[in-house]
Amino acid sequence: MTAPLRQSEAATVRVALDARAYDIVIGRGLLASLGDRIKALRPGARVAIVSDETVAKLHLAATEASLNSSSIGSARIVVPSGEGSKSYATFEKICEAIIAERVERNDLIVALGGGVIGDLAGFAASSVRRGLDFVQVPTTLLAQVDSSVGGKTGINSSQGKNLIGAFHQPVLVITDTALLDTLPRREFRAGYAEVAKYGLLGDAAFFAWLEKNWQDVFAGSPAREHAIAVCCRAKAGIVARDERETGERALLNLGHTFGHALEAGCGFSDRLLHGEAVALGIALAFEFSSHKGLIAASEAARASAHLAAVGLPTHLKDVSGGAPSIDVLMDLIAQDKKVRRGTLTFILVRGIGRAFVENNVDVAEVRAFLTGKVSGA
Ligand SMILES: NC(=O)c1ccc[n+]([C@@H]2O[C@H](COP(=O)([O-])OP(=O)(O)OC[C@H]3O[C@@H](n4cnc5c(N)ncnc54)[C@H](O)[C@@H]3O)[C@@H](O)[C@H]2O)c1
Ligand SMILES: [Zn+2]
Repeated sequence: MTAPLRQSEAATVRVALDARAYDIVIGRGLLASLGDRIKALRPGARVAIVSDETVAKLHLAATEASLNSSSIGSARIVVPSGEGSKSYATFEKICEAIIAERVERNDLIVALGGGVIGDLAGFAASSVRRGLDFVQVPTTLLAQVDSSVGGKTGINSSQGKNLIGAFHQPVLVITDTALLDTLPRREFRAGYAEVAKYGLLGDAAFFAWLEKNWQDVFAGSPAREHAIAVCCRAKAGIVARDERETGERALLNLGHTFGHALEAGCGFSDRLLHGEAVALGIALAFEFSSHKGLIAASEAARASAHLAAVGLPTHLKDVSGGAPSIDVLMDLIAQDKKVRRGTLTFILVRGIGRAFVENNVDVAEVRAFLTGKVSGA
């Protein structure tokens, strides 16, 4: 993992997908170079920028200024902030706006926002005119280390999250870490759960580095760029080896089976953000691995201690308003898309940095484990 820290210069991570390969460029203040980079990539292209209301107020003017200074014409499509926009209605609005703006096959969509905008704009790009190219400009920590990389795009169905969508890789990702300076601390912290996840699933040295340096990652350069680059390199490697999640990519779901159930049980509300649910889910996945005798209790305690130190929830009692009941959680876990033929698939660990896919987890064992947690065992 860890190349020594240098002063903030842009780092480039290549996602090696043959004809669909692309670069993730990471650095502080990179937004100013967006116009030049688009001009070099796609001379003569026009751009439609998709953003949400919050991000548009903060960062749309600078985005347009960068495009303008490279003589690139742009249209803006702004939708309400929040998960509610990953809907058929907003998807339709974006597609119609792209068509109305006469965006053609050689033009580009720019997704300026967090994971919601990346998923939505990416899915619209995959669909309009049977596929337009798009550029990700992620503005949350979660989007910079996770959702902007790997080409999963989509919207929510009334029957579940992310059930309508497509694999559609961006042609470029511009990760300007200065955009995170305006992100509310709670959102930054929630995104950090995914950062820690990369260490915990496959890179023990990175996790040890985070234990020492997390405060600098929160504070800014150059530790922040370093951490984001390590995460993008890890995800890029996994995506290049398993784009369609037939194997290794599932490791990125560490903490997400418990996490999704907790998130859904809280109604996808402010009570528990996605990253907070993931932190608690990771703590539970480590404790469950210890319960199954795969790791020492002290290893699980070390993983939880770091997440708790940054202020993330690691116990069911940390959920504001109380965690959902065991019955509700078990129903939600059973509905999760990772269920196959009655047994559950979990990402478990043989140590920090040593996650693996376990396809044969017994439902009763999970229930007994969670019951023990609730009764404080
Ligand atoms: N495609 C993937 O591989 C993938 C992976 C993980 C998550 N996701 C999806 O990502 C979504 C969550 O993403 P998210 O956590 O980025 O949420 P988000 O996009 O809703 O952003 C969170 C909040 O922060 C605001 N915001 C964004 N950037 C800001 C900035 N720079 N300054 C101030 N405020 C800012 C937004 O307006 C929003 O209110 C979920 O829908 C999830 O399903 C997708
Ligand atoms: Zn996640």
